[in-house]
Amino acid sequence: MHFIGPSTHAARHCERILRSLPRWFGIEASLLEYVADSERFPTFFAVDVDPVAFLTVREHFAQSWEVHCIGVSALHRGKGIGRKLHEHVETWLKSRGAQVLQVKTLAPAHPSPEYAETRQFYTALGYVPLEMFPALWGPQLPVLQLVKPLATFKQADESLIGERPEQQCTAREMLNKSA
Ligand SMILES: CC(C)(COP(=O)(O)OP(=O)(O)OC[C@H]1O[C@@H](n2cnc3c(N)ncnc32)[C@H](O)[C@@H]1OP(=O)(O)O)[C@@H](O)C(=O)NCCC(=O)NCCS
Repeated sequence: MHFIGPSTHAARHCERILRSLPRWFGIEASLLEYVADSERFPTFFAVDVDPVAFLTVREHFAQSWEVHCIGVSALHRGKGIGRKLHEHVETWLKSRGAQVLQVKTLAPAHPSPEYAETRQFYTALGYVPLEMFPALWGPQLPVLQLVKPLATFKQADESLIGERPEQQCTAREMLNKSA
């Protein structure tokens, strides 16, 4: 197993991996958006002959990034690949000065057993819950935001806070994704 990225031409492999996970990615429009996003935002792969897992991150601020999507192909889940891929991406982010990583996923108030497993993965990796958003992705889709510190926080340069990277994910994009 080796790790590569950020990669260009990620879409084909991401689509294959996501289609192996219909219990998480069963909404076609949302799946296709994650596939397209894999070529818009930095995407990393775990490769075993072919890519078997991917992780896409988005930059909100230089210090603050988000796990936008992660998937390990169904046959390869539960073998430590997700953890190792995440560690690889953490190293890349730290080398760029990132201090905190966040992820949004379905909250425990949602009955999905699949996303209960997903939350266990994030907490096993050291994420802590930060905030709940009852309607960010739409009605009946409560969102849990988790964060993982990557470094001891340094004082921010306030002049940079107003500069939003173009690719910043807005609440409107999130809502469109769940529509
Ligand atoms: C969530 C996912 C990325 C985890 O990757 P993985 O390779 O299966 O996970 P790993 O084997 O690296 O497990 C890492 C840790 O997470 C925990 N974990 C992983 N899957 C778990 C599960 N199904 N139930 C409980 N805990 C789990 C393990 O306890 C493990 O801890 P350890 O390393 O201390 O033993 C992968 O299973 C997946 O693609 N799931 C479906 C899609 C998804 O949920 N994507 C995220 C939402 S966008």
